[in-house]
Order: sequence, then structure tokens, then C-alpha cells
Amino acid sequence: MKFLAVVGARPNYMKVAPIMRACHNCRGIKPVLVHTGQHYQPNMSGDFFKDLELPNPDYYLGVGSASHAEQTARIMMAFEKVLSEVKPQVVIVVGDANSTLACSLVAAKTCVPIAHVEAGLRSFDRTMPEEINRVLTDHVSDYLFTTCEDANQNLLREGISKPIHFVGNTMIDSLLQWMPKIDASGILPRVGLSPGEYAVLTLHRPANVDTVEAFERIAANIRELARSVPIVFPVHPRTEPRIKDGTLNIDNVLLLPPLAYVDFMKLLKHCEFVITDSGGIQEETTYLQVPCLTLRSSTERPVTIRSGTNRLVQDVALLPQFVARIRQNGQVRSAVPDLWDGQAARRIVQVLARSLAGPVPPK
Ligand code: UD1
Repeated sequence: MKFLAVVGARPNYMKVAPIMRACHNCRGIKPVLVHTGQHYQPNMSGDFFKDLELPNPDYYLGVGSASHAEQTARIMMAFEKVLSEVKPQVVIVVGDANSTLACSLVAAKTCVPIAHVEAGLRSFDRTMPEEINRVLTDHVSDYLFTTCEDANQNLLREGISKPIHFVGNTMIDSLLQWMPKIDASGILPRVGLSPGEYAVLTLHRPANVDTVEAFERIAANIRELARSVPIVFPVHPRTEPRIKDGTLNIDNVLLLPPLAYVDFMKLLKHCEFVITDSGGIQEETTYLQVPCLTLRSSTERPVTIRSGTNRLVQDVALLPQFVARIRQNGQVRSAVPDLWDGQAARRIVQVLARSLAGPVPPK
């Protein structure tokens, strides 16, 4: 059986790597890896392949950056050719990037079963491109693999009748798998930071970084916060134009290029707290028991707030109050969500192998 897995953008690599490994460990399954090339710079792509020991992609579509319509269309056109050549039993897509939706649409129209990993997450904010990608991908998928109970409920509420499998979180599979390498990373002395004595900042959501006004409101608060703690900020390419005018070129803010997986996880694991607008970091900090302040008006991952260390900061002016609360509370106590135990990919591959060995589910 051929299982075709798709990666395209940065958070996909951590989610797909354990699935590729689980396929390799399962007799009778040949995994085929397709990289759309949505992210292409070495520090947004190749460096992650090395850290996660992902095999080189069997197909590289090289689509690059473009508007949503153009990027999605380019991926669809290139992926259609791959699909007709490989003829897999299933297409496995993860997360909510444009690559996820584009490949799902192609598979749906050519009647190849689709497995969506990380199905059912909803921010209920349709201004986020990812929310559109999540909803549409779920509705054309044949197997829905979820990370939490909320996701199951969201799918049922939307009337999805295909099988929903609550399997855990493949991103946490990667975190557990590579913990020894993360612990051995020398990034902290290399950038002159000490454990527990710095904060991490990441920003790349269009709402926060696409306009000077939105970014400047955040930057003003970061400049203020940097008076009390060094802040390390690996800058996403989307955010780069915002910092070109030197708005964060100040003492105590350490601007870095995007970091690969192992070094970034080391920074995350040992910081005092994180300020972010990322989805995956909300989950990784929950697992690592690190306080996380999410600069967004909603989250598709409420479990990280309910049982984890995440707090939504809907107005950036409130950032100092949230930081003060973290400092008052000291050591955080949070619960790791159910099944975030390093075994999610194995469960996914087992479900698919059992199901696809028999008759293919009807479209
Ligand atoms: C994409 C995903 C988002 C995910 C994020 C993680 C969509 C709609 N969004 O957002 O869900 O959280 O990846 O990083 O798919 N660029 C480079 N080099 C690269 C990649 C991008 O310079 O290797 C620049 C380009 O100017 C590009 C911009 O970054 O236009 C945005 O890239 P894009 O892939 O369109 O979206 P992200 O913001 O990265």
C-alpha cells in the first residue's frame, strides 16, 4: 500500500515526520513524501528535514510564495500530476496551511481517500486563512484524526459523518522523540542567554504583522517589556519587512533569523514565558509547562487554555498585566491533554492500515 503524505509549510514537518516513521515501521506500507515548496528557504524547510531526520521528499513541487489563490492553484496543478503518477491508497494531509487544502481538493476530485491529521480545530474566525483551510479540508476528508475532544465535538456539530478518530498529537510525538537532541542543543550559550532568564517572541499572523500600525502596537509593548527581561525573537520572513526600519533594534531584544526545530525547542523549553501568535507553540508550551501568552483574539486550541499554560491576550496593551500575573504565580501547573503521549502517529497508521487493507470507504 502506498501512503502519500504532504508537507509544505513549517509546522507540517513536525507533524508528518512521526507519520513517515510509523509507515516505515509497518510492513506492507510504502510512504511517499511530497513537499509542495510553499516554504522553501533552508531555515524554513531543509533545516527541519535534518533535525527531524525526514527523508528527502520523493516529489518537490517548488511552488514558492504567491497570493492565496495563485499559491493554492499552483499546488493543485502540480499535485494533480503527482497523484496520477503515484496512485496512492490514501493522501495524508496535516494542519491548516494552503498546501493542506490544495492537496485535499485535488485528492477529493480524483476520488483518492484523504486523511486529515489535526482535524476539527476551529477558531470560529473566518478572517483567518487557516480557518477556511481547516473547515474545507475536514469536509472533503474521509478519515478525521483529532488531537482533542473539542475537535470531535466541532466535527459532529458540522454534521461530518466520516469516521472521527481521537488519536493524540503528532507534534508532541516529535517533541518527545527529539527531546534528547533538544536537551543537548548549545543554542543558549551561543546566543548569550541563561535558562529561565529570557522570554521568547514569535509573530507571523497577517493580523499582527501585515500592517505597520498593528505591528507597531505590539512593538511598543515589546520595547517596554524588554526593560525587565531579555527577549529573543526569531523573525519569520513574513515579519521581516516590519523590522527593517529598526523598530526593535534595541538592547535586550535579540533578533535572530528563523531557527530550526531543535534549537527553537531548546529556547522554548527554558524560557520564562513565550509571547506568540503561532498555533503549534500553544501546544508545545502546554506540554513543556511553559507559560504562553497568545497575541490573538481567538484560538482554535482551547484545550491549551483549559488544561494548559496558554492565555489569550486579546489586547496587546494588557501584555504587562499578563506578564505580571505569570511572575506572581511562579511555577505553573498544567495537565498534559489526553493522548499527547508520543504515540499518535502509530495510532493513525494503524487505523489507516486496517481500514485500507479492506474495502476502500465510499466517497
Ligand atoms: C504559513 C501558513 C500558516 C503557518 C505558517 C508557519 C497558510 C495560509 N499559512 O503562513 O498557517 O502558521 O505558514 O510559518 O498556509 N516566505 C519566505 N520564505 C519562505 C516562506 C515564506 O520568504 O521559505 C515569505 C514570503 O514573502 C511569503 C511570506 O513569507 O509571501 C508568507 O509565506 P506563506 O507561506 O504565504 O504564509 P506564512 O505566513 O508563512
